[in-house]
Amino acid sequence: MIELRTAHTADLDAAILASARALLDEVFEGDMAEHDWEHCLGGVHALVFEGEEVVGHASVVQRRLLHGGRALRAGYVEGVGVRASLRRHGHGAAMMDALERVVRGAYDLGALGATDQGADFYAARGWQPWRGPTSALTPTGVVRTEEEDGSVHVLPVAVALDRSGELTCDWRDGDVW
Ligand SMILES: CC(C)(COP(=O)(O)OP(=O)(O)OC[C@H]1O[C@@H](n2cnc3c(N)ncnc32)[C@H](O)[C@@H]1OP(=O)(O)O)[C@@H](O)C(=O)NCCC(=O)NCCS
Repeated sequence: MIELRTAHTADLDAAILASARALLDEVFEGDMAEHDWEHCLGGVHALVFEGEEVVGHASVVQRRLLHGGRALRAGYVEGVGVRASLRRHGHGAAMMDALERVVRGAYDLGALGATDQGADFYAARGWQPWRGPTSALTPTGVVRTEEEDGSVHVLPVAVALDRSGELTCDWRDGDVW
């Protein structure tokens, strides 16, 4: 039986977190660094279970994004993946439905960094590619992140966004977007 559950990181036990981490290792074929997993923690997870095993994962965490002179409260989506054999059955959409409800209810906007494969999935759900320059607020100041231009997507919610303007993310270890 396949079932969707949502829960804050604080309400997931170690076995479930380990199963989610193992799924993401499988989905991203070993390209899931410790930092990438850490970026998934501290917010709300949408988990697809097959029995006790996690076969789909996505989470939304709070970040600050600087845009138009404001520090916007962003629901940042991380670690989106569904076991390859179970794709195109609506599990990804069900997880995103749950997380977009959180984004719409709690944040100024949604944001995420999409893979090439993910970009079509998110675009079909109304997420929009950021067209302007991206950057990060590092400990030594704002630094451009050219390599991320075009992959950052946003879900407008409560504030007007100029998607041709600059978008700057807060600092973190590992991939900043
Ligand atoms: C992206 C991913 C999570 C989608 O999960 P999924 O369970 O297959 O998605 P769904 O079945 O809910 O798809 C819903 C809709 O999204 C769109 N979609 C999903 N995958 C797509 C793809 N690869 N290309 C184009 N559109 C896609 C389709 O419109 C689809 O509806 P349809 O099947 O009726 O045509 C899954 O393909 C995955 O894990 N990919 C590898 C990891 C990855 O790239 N994650 C994104 C990181 S940013």
